[in-house]
Amino acid sequence: MNERPLPDAGAGPDLGTHPSFGSGPGSAGSAAGADSLADRRTLVEHAYSGAAALRSRQALYTWARPAHDLPSIVLDLLQTRFSGRTGDPVILDVGAGNGGYTERLRTGGRFGRVVALDLSPSMLAEVPSPTVTADAARLPFANGAADAVLAMHMLYHVPDPEEAVAELARVLAADGVAVVSTNHSADKQELDALWSRAAARVLGVAEGPRRVAASARFPLEAAGESLGRHFGAVCAIPIPSVIEVRDPEPIIAHLASYEAWAHDMGAPLQETLKCVRELLLDHFSRWGVFTITVRSGVLVATEPAGSSCR
Ligand SMILES: C[S@@+](CC[C@H](N)C(=O)[O-])C[C@H]1O[C@@H](n2cnc3c(N)ncnc32)[C@H](O)[C@@H]1O
Repeated sequence: MNERPLPDAGAGPDLGTHPSFGSGPGSAGSAAGADSLADRRTLVEHAYSGAAALRSRQALYTWARPAHDLPSIVLDLLQTRFSGRTGDPVILDVGAGNGGYTERLRTGGRFGRVVALDLSPSMLAEVPSPTVTADAARLPFANGAADAVLAMHMLYHVPDPEEAVAELARVLAADGVAVVSTNHSADKQELDALWSRAAARVLGVAEGPRRVAASARFPLEAAGESLGRHFGAVCAIPIPSVIEVRDPEPIIAHLASYEAWAHDMGAPLQETLKCVRELLLDHFSRWGVFTITVRSGVLVATEPAGSSCR
């Protein structure tokens, strides 16, 4: 949690109650629509209809310390694994998004082919070929076709993440490696508290709704077990960091990037963001910095069993 407290929800200006979200005491409800986080139409037509929202969300990590360069971590991991091996490994980046990992592996590594796959064709528009528009739950590849598969911060968007994990295992060669990333359910809790506090104030309730937490559908603490049902060996590499910001805008942009799920967030987005900004400005005037604890992790899964993490 943030070391320094946010100002009390009742201490700031009265922003009134939004007529369409109810009023009065009590909680405004609990977690935002978990299923819409995996709704293919919402994902393709809204959340990932372009790379802008994802970029805003990712930009918050510019302030993370230590600054983990996840694509470089994955590149190192795969280079080490494939060093000394004959033949050019084929890598499949599932849920490639705007292609951050694909690009790093293509430019930094010596791999035969790095294929970017995503459910959303708009996300792939900026990624050079080879690209494939497809669903992680039904990969259009033969058994054992890939030497490495990536599923970075994306399995939580699949309706049944386990189904996609099974697909990763199916398309992977017997000596291949799967690299998966996600967040712990306690990731960025300070943002959860901030959103709830702002939403409570906007709605005029004692306890505000929680913001969307996509990774809660495939949290880090459960991911190892899920992978373990399909792979012989699974190693978890925690990637913790702390984000410190001194200006509301990176946080506002991050929260606003969840706009596709605004209807599920239990409070009107723009009003809540306005209130978040006010809470943050007050916080900065007292403490100067807002701290966010990041609890991400990478899992390395191999088949058959016997490998170990670097
Ligand atoms: C949070 S982004 C992560 C992008 C990239 N892997 C990264 O870490 O930068 C999630 C991506 O997964 C894609 N996605 C969501 N559901 C998918 C599915 N069922 N099959 C393939 N891609 C999917 C989205 O379109 C989006 O591009």
